[in-house]
Amino acid sequence: MIQKQKGCNDIYGREAKVWKYVESVIDAAMEKYNYTYMRTPIFEATELFHRGIGEGTDIVSKETYDFVDRGGRNITLRPEGTAGVVRSYIENKMYGDPNQPVKVYYNGTMYRYERPQSGRDRELTQFGMEVLGSDDPLTDAEVISLAVNIYKMLGLKEIKVNINSLGDNESRKAYRDALVEYFTPYINELCEDCQVRLEKNPLRILDCKVDAGSDILKNAPKTIDYLNDASKKRFDEVKDYLDIMQIKYEVNPNIVRGLDYYNHTVFEIEAKVEGFGSNNVLGGGGRYNGLCSQLDGPETACIGFASGMGRVVKALELENVKMPIVDDVDLFIMYVNEEEKKYAAYLTQELRMAGFIVETEYTGRGLKGQFKQADRLNAKYIAILNSEDLNNNEVHIKNNKTKEEDVISLDVLIYYLDEQLNTGDCDCGCDDEYCDCGHDHGCGCDESCDCGCQEGYECTCGDDEHDCDCGGDCHCNEEGHECHCGEDGHKCHCHE
Ligand code: HAM
Repeated sequence: MIQKQKGCNDIYGREAKVWKYVESVIDAAMEKYNYTYMRTPIFEATELFHRGIGEGTDIVSKETYDFVDRGGRNITLRPEGTAGVVRSYIENKMYGDPNQPVKVYYNGTMYRYERPQSGRDRELTQFGMEVLGSDDPLTDAEVISLAVNIYKMLGLKEIKVNINSLGDNESRKAYRDALVEYFTPYINELCEDCQVRLEKNPLRILDCKVDAGSDILKNAPKTIDYLNDASKKRFDEVKDYLDIMQIKYEVNPNIVRGLDYYNHTVFEIEAKVEGFGSNNVLGGGGRYNGLCSQLDGPETACIGFASGMGRVVKALELENVKMPIVDDVDLFIMYVNEEEKKYAAYLTQELRMAGFIVETEYTGRGLKGQFKQADRLNAKYIAILNSEDLNNNEVHIKNNKTKEEDVISLDVLIYYLDEQLNTGDCDCGCDDEYCDCGHDHGCGCDESCDCGCQEGYECTCGDDEHDCDCGGDCHCNEEGHECHCGEDGHKCHCHE
């Protein structure tokens, strides 16, 4: 049997639905912050990453998937998204657009030949955003706040934002000198790679996986002590904006990031939920003002962030976050003979076009098997087709929860299902636990929200269609609770 490659994942079933949901929240958040979706190639010229990320980094020196293509070109599967975005910004002359800064986001697979372990894959998916063309500290704060808000919109609570500054070139040089002076007496105690790094790129010693945790590394000089006045002032401004935006953070002088292109602000967001394990950084980013010119583009100030999708999904699971994952169907259509099957094919199509989630039988099960299958699919209603009913233009409909059965005219089936599935007491999953927040969820409603959106961020429903004043789709999937919006007759979106 051919198996998947080490460090790769098949994502399917419920997990795939979670991924789609997370992606939808990311899209909604990016839209609010006015970031435009962007796709760049999965493979690029090897040189892009060597020059961009840095020869001395682990990513480039040990982890890239490199190959020579049939035309003899040196190609690398992208290990991250930033270098490709900057390449595209230069190649497509986006810097010439008066509409600066350019704000883009992406979501795609990246490849790193790492030792696979929990939270560390060889094929990984990152979403991320980049702001190109502004050095305003407000953009640093915006990127951090966007990252935090995505996690909050998803319902993650146990996160911690660590920020630091590497300073401008002058500060970085002073820091580099301090590191060389500090590490030189310990050279023989460092791993072989770090001995080379000491000469080439001493900053990378700080994120060495072999020497990690050693006292030598712990006691090394901190970037923040080597910031010149301008860099200090800039960092203070970033912190002020974060305070204004009410984004909680901690200054952590140990954050240096593992890629060479950073200067000034760097940050990482950790999952603090129990059971996460050591690879608990959900995402990281920072400012990279030198990268564009290093890649032969104009001097362009940039900042960005990227986050591992797999780690985010894991955090959602560990925090037990309720998500609006649809794992049931509105109607299962049962049949026995060929004539009924043809009608089932017609009816399935009709009802799907009318907006219902409809399933039928595809594997030749008998009636008993079809009832079981309807249960497996969590069908809310079952239509039992039989030739006699069809001749009378009727159908038996069974509520699969109460087991009550109705015989109704096929002419009114759509109205019947609409009424049964969408009206009456709301089961939408509003949950006082995190509702009644009185927050403007951005969906046009100024009522207290009962929709299940978690407090303190904007609603992601993006839907004008909901009839309820609660402001959005249900986010919890809980059965049996009542809606708190106090409105009668609104449509529930929970698919209960
Ligand atoms: P990075 O820290 O290398 O930064 O990666 C960002 C995030 O991707 C990590 O925090 C982690 O969640 C996830 N990640 C990285 N490697 C793996 C892996 N092997 N398996 C699973 N997840 C992983 C960057 O990539 C920068 N491009 C971020 C950035 C954007 N800086 C500025 N703009």
